[in-house]
Amino acid sequence: MQPSGITIRRMREGDLDIVSELATLANPHVTRDEYRPHIVEGLRENPDLSLVAVKDGRVIGYVQADISDGKAILEDIAVAREYQGKGVGGMLLKEELEALRLRGAKIIIAEVHYKCASAIPFYYKHKFRIIGSIQDHFGIGHDAIILKRELKVT
Ligand SMILES: CC(C)(COP(=O)(O)OP(=O)(O)OC[C@H]1O[C@@H](n2cnc3c(N)ncnc32)[C@H](O)[C@@H]1OP(=O)(O)O)[C@@H](O)C(=O)NCCC(=O)NCCS
Repeated sequence: MQPSGITIRRMREGDLDIVSELATLANPHVTRDEYRPHIVEGLRENPDLSLVAVKDGRVIGYVQADISDGKAILEDIAVAREYQGKGVGGMLLKEELEALRLRGAKIIIAEVHYKCASAIPFYYKHKFRIIGSIQDHFGIGHDAIILKRELKVT
């Protein structure tokens, strides 16, 4: 079901405090302050791939990706706990995939921290499949589950 009153727009510098907070949901291996520079860098390098979901003027979710040679990495997607399961993540992912399509992406890779494994059904709903895992990908003891989706060129 499409949630009502939610809009998706590009991330702005003024969103960085709340986005850094949300980022800990998708990156349980780092603190908000440790991860913030990564978000800032993503916003600077790929402003078109840095999106937020807004409800009543408040940022409640975000997504970021990077792309090189047609291969995109979905860096993060997170929705505030109280809004999860209402379709917001789906809206963010759809917009991100469209932005990636415009950038020429053919393959999308998602790297999911093992503690976020409960998000795997979300990715499967959006046509991602597990292709493997990488030990210590996010640091010692922080393994990643790797998912992939191909984007059809239309
Ligand atoms: C993963 C996440 C972004 C999904 O966003 P969302 O707004 O909750 O997801 P949606 O409401 O759009 O989609 C819900 C669908 O995803 C699946 N899903 C999402 N979270 C799930 C969970 N915890 N357990 C099982 N299924 C889940 C379900 O299949 C559900 O489908 P349904 O509506 O047919 O039942 C969000 O739950 C989140 O922020 N999680 C914490 C951070 C994280 O793990 N990020 C992914 C790693 S980068």
